[in-house]
Amino acid sequence: MLNELARVRAFAKMQSSPTTHSVSFFHLLPLSPVMEPFRYRDGELYCEEVRIADLAHEYGTPLWVYSSAKLLHEYRAIQEAFAEVDPVICYSVKSNSNLSILKLLNSAGCSFDVVSGGELYRVQKAGADTTRVVFAGVGKTDAELRQALEQNILMFNVESEAELDAISRIAASMNRVAPVALRLNPDIDGKTHAKTTTGKKGNKFGMDIERHNQLANKVLNDPHLELRGIHMHLGSPINTTEPYEAAARKALDVVSALRSQGHQTNWINLGGGFGLNYRGTEAPPAAEYAQVILPFIKQAECRLALEPGRSISGNAGALISEVIFTKREGGKLFVIQDAAMNDLVRPAMYDSFHRLWPVKPTVKPPQDYEAEIPGCEATDVVGPICESGDYLAKGRYLPPMQRGDLLCTFSAGAYGTAMSSNYNSRPRGAEVLVDGTQVRLIRKRETYADLVAGELFAVASSVADPAPTDEA
Ligand SMILES: Cc1ncc(COP(=O)(O)O)c(C=O)c1O
Repeated sequence: MLNELARVRAFAKMQSSPTTHSVSFFHLLPLSPVMEPFRYRDGELYCEEVRIADLAHEYGTPLWVYSSAKLLHEYRAIQEAFAEVDPVICYSVKSNSNLSILKLLNSAGCSFDVVSGGELYRVQKAGADTTRVVFAGVGKTDAELRQALEQNILMFNVESEAELDAISRIAASMNRVAPVALRLNPDIDGKTHAKTTTGKKGNKFGMDIERHNQLANKVLNDPHLELRGIHMHLGSPINTTEPYEAAARKALDVVSALRSQGHQTNWINLGGGFGLNYRGTEAPPAAEYAQVILPFIKQAECRLALEPGRSISGNAGALISEVIFTKREGGKLFVIQDAAMNDLVRPAMYDSFHRLWPVKPTVKPPQDYEAEIPGCEATDVVGPICESGDYLAKGRYLPPMQRGDLLCTFSAGAYGTAMSSNYNSRPRGAEVLVDGTQVRLIRKRETYADLVAGELFAVASSVADPAPTDEA
C-alpha cells in the first residue's frame, strides 16, 4: 500500500516535469492497473486487460465500465489506513448501488451505509450482514424504520427529535430496543459545492451539536432506544483533511462530555466525503485522512465507522459514449454524443468536472485537461436531451472527432448510474464489470418496453377510443 502511494507521488511529480512531454504518450502511465485501471495502451483505451472499443462494440453505448480491481483497491486502502482502530467501513450505497458492486465489496468484508428502504433491500439482496449496516437520512418512513429493525442494523443515524420519537414508537410495537447514533451538525465548512455541503449550520442534516446532552438524555430516558454513538458527515467531496480533523476533535469533545454525564457512547461515525481525483491528484490519499482522524478516535476509545462512497466507486468507473454528430454554430464546435444528462447529471447539477478523452485518440492525453492543448480545439461535449444544461463538458480542448468515434468520460463510477433517469424517454445504458481479462454484464441495457413497463392504461375508454364522429 505504502509502495503504491509512493508510486502515485512519483508519478504525479513525473507528470508535472517538462521532460515528460517527450515520452511516448501511450506508455505514459507506469501505474499498476489497480491504481489506474483505465489506461491507454497501443494507441487505445483499456480497462484493466480489456479493450474499451471491444466492450462498446459488444454492449453498445452509452456504456458504463467498472474495474473490480480498483473498487477493491480503494476499499482496502481505506480499511488499511484506519486498521489501527479496526474500523467498520460502510460503503455508501448511494454512490453506486449496482448489486454486483455491492456483492464484490461485501465479499471483501466491506459493510454498507444506506439512506432508504430501497438501498437496504439492495444490501440484503447482495447477501450482506445487515448487523453491520448504518442507516442515515432525514426522512425515514415508518415502513423503513420497521424494515431496518427487522434486519437488526448496527444503528440509525438519527437526524431529528421527531425521528427519535418515531423509532421509539416502532421499536416499542416490535418489543425491541433500537440502536441509535445522534447525527450532529458540527457547523464545519467542508469547502465543497453548495449542493453537497452538509455539516454547516442551516443545512437540513442532523441536529445542532450544542444539543448533544439534551438529545442523549432523551435517548437515555426512553426504554426503547439505546445510544450507540454519534455521527457527523461534512459533505462531499472534501479534498482537504482539516475539516475531518476539526470534526474528529468535536466528536471527541462530545463523547467526553456525554460520558461525564454517564452516557455510554462507544461509536464515532465520521461519514463519507473523502475526495476523488477527478482532475489529477487533488484528493489526499486515505492515509492522510487517517493521520488527522485516528489520534482523536484513539483518545476517545471509540469504535470508528466511516461511510466512503465516491472515493471507492468514483475512479473505478467510466462512461463510454459514441459521437453522433459534430457541428459548428454560433462560433462554437459541438460534439453531440449519445451520453446525456439523464445518464450523468453531475455536470448539469453541480457544474462538476470530468476528464474526457477519445477512446482511440489522435493526440496524446494531456496532463492538464483544462489547458489549451496543441492539436485540439475548444469543444462543447453535449448530449441529445432538449435542455441547454445537457452537457458533459464546455469549452474543453479535445482532438478532432467525428461521427462514430468513441469518447470516455472518466471518474464516472460514483453518482453516475445512481443518479441517472429516463428523462426524454432514454433507456439507460448497460453496465459491465471488468476483472482482468474477464467481463461481466452487471446491468442490461434498458429497452423501450422497460421504459413503459410500470405504466398502466388508465384513461377512460371514451377518451382513449373516441366515438366515431358524424363525418366518419
Ligand atoms: C450521510 C452520508 N454518508 C456518506 C455519504 C457518501 O459521501 P461520499 O460518496 O462523498 O463518500 C454521503 C453523501 O452524500 C452522505 O450524505
